[in-house]
Amino acid sequence: MTPRESDEDGLRGRVALVTGGAGAGIGSAIVERLRCAGASLVVTDISAKRVEALRSRLGDLAVEHLCEPMDVRDEDAVVSLFGRVRDEFGRLDILVNSAGFNKPASLADMDLATWHAVLDTNVTSAFLHIREAWPLLRERGGAIVNLSSVAAWSGTGLGEAHYAAAKAGVLGLTRAAAAEGAPHGIRVNAVAPGLIWNEHLGRAVPPPFLAAYRAMSLMGQGQPEDVADVVHFLCTDASRHVTADTITVAGGHLARH
Ligand SMILES: NC(=O)c1ccc[n+]([C@@H]2O[C@H](COP(=O)([O-])OP(=O)(O)OC[C@H]3O[C@@H](n4cnc5c(N)ncnc54)[C@H](O)[C@@H]3O)[C@@H](O)[C@H]2O)c1
Repeated sequence: MTPRESDEDGLRGRVALVTGGAGAGIGSAIVERLRCAGASLVVTDISAKRVEALRSRLGDLAVEHLCEPMDVRDEDAVVSLFGRVRDEFGRLDILVNSAGFNKPASLADMDLATWHAVLDTNVTSAFLHIREAWPLLRERGGAIVNLSSVAAWSGTGLGEAHYAAAKAGVLGLTRAAAAEGAPHGIRVNAVAPGLIWNEHLGRAVPPPFLAAYRAMSLMGQGQPEDVADVVHFLCTDASRHVTADTITVAGGHLARH
């Protein structure tokens, strides 16, 4: 479901940064949701082609924006990005750590490079972005939303030990950052999706698992917009007393786990 332009609820005048926001799944749905809520946007993604397409779309829509191709694991690039945010916008109100990566492998076959690639993209990148966003967010308070996964609890059993560890790490990082952020008016929450449509789903997840998951979830597979609406809530003042928390968007998956 496409958000309506009239959904301008609370984010006009605010600046939001979304990582991994130029793809076709949850990240780009979050960008679209925050755009419809009136936010100015900073969006990064590793795909230069997709970043270029988003830049031109936001330009056509006259949205104040900065779209940069970059790797969320690159510390220098992250430091430089936040320098540009300060120079070009002078403020930051919202950080959404959505970029993610998974490459299933059984534990016995998992090489260390794959382990690091998954941990670095899913959790170390969130740490780097939070650290660099901190001075900007501390100036007037703000909201951070980190994308975790139900894999943090279920482990999935699909050769995703690295992914499950990373997404469980995101939950610990979220709570620790919330404790440090509260005195400065910085709220930090996580969203843990279940199985949500994305363009790689058919390739990444074996069909028998997809069928089993759909049967296990009380409401079946979700859409990126289902997650984006919850992220949007956590970014607005409607969630002003919510911090250190995790909202699962999994159609009731955990009820049967
Ligand atoms: N789709 C699901 O079923 C599901 C379930 C649970 C959690 N999640 C999490 O939600 C988030 C979004 O997932 P999605 O499946 O909708 O994918 P998505 O379509 O939003 O794609 C992820 C984006 O991250 C970008 N990216 C990957 N590695 C990067 C890097 N090193 N630097 C910068 N950008 C990078 C990709 O180019 C892509 O655009 C991820 O953190 C994912 O782990 C997804």
